[in-house]
Amino acid sequence: MAVPVKPAATSGPAAVAAEPRLVTVPDFLAAKARGTRLTMLTAYDYTMARLLDDAGVDSLLVGDSLGMVVQGLPDSLAVTMDEMVYHTRLVARGVRRSLLVADMPFLSYQVSPEQAVANAGRLIKEGGAHAVKLEGGARSAAAIAAITAADIPLIGHIGLTPQSVRRLGGFKVQRDADKLLEDARAVEAAGAFAVVVECVPSDVAARITAALKVPTIGIGAGPHCDGQVLVTPDLLGLFDELRPRFVKQYADLGAEVRRAAQAYCREVREGTFPAAEHSFR
Ligand code: KIV
Repeated sequence: MAVPVKPAATSGPAAVAAEPRLVTVPDFLAAKARGTRLTMLTAYDYTMARLLDDAGVDSLLVGDSLGMVVQGLPDSLAVTMDEMVYHTRLVARGVRRSLLVADMPFLSYQVSPEQAVANAGRLIKEGGAHAVKLEGGARSAAAIAAITAADIPLIGHIGLTPQSVRRLGGFKVQRDADKLLEDARAVEAAGAFAVVVECVPSDVAARITAALKVPTIGIGAGPHCDGQVLVTPDLLGLFDELRPRFVKQYADLGAEVRRAAQAYCREVREGTFPAAEHSFR
């Protein structure tokens, strides 16, 4: 069930006819208090944002995973601020209800707190994001504190942080429970309203979830987090170059796309498309 949000007023000055109310930061915090699990999926363009928002996904993340699943790069390191602003703007046009979170790409927040605030501000002002996300625990606390002090809601990201792929030597499960707990606490203390926990053992994610007041959003972190996030092309079977064990494929749209494109090519070649009903007289 989607996170319950108070309906918009239907009469009086606050009425917004037929507009569903946005999921907000306080809704995220209330969901944890109530024990309602949060749902988040990635989106990179208008069409998919419309579909996912319509399906009742609580939050859409414009992930820097777009480097891999949209741009065809081996990792997310080369993704730029301009690219994140561009894709966030496309997704923002498709959002009616979901909380829209935009990722801060590699080296857009590590240089200084001032740089971090300026770039987070671009995602909000130019991209239309409601909140931003950045990677790192204790080492990112100064950037998180500066961004949230500027009234920009922020989600942290600990565990396997893909922007650290060179230092980590690959996309590996992170198992140092004490360090992960310390990172989670540092991110919460710095002002994050939620924390993505990626690729950590389920029992460690459960400890982190119990230790924090803000919700944890797991990916490859087992069932005990307060919510879950997946990369949408993985879930839909549209991207098969990398198949992490934690992904559940809910559809095989890759096969459907190939089937439809082959049928189209066949009909064009044999002259059965376009037919009379597709043509003008
Ligand atoms: O970039 C991304 O899509 C992410 C999710 C995997 C959480 O950070």
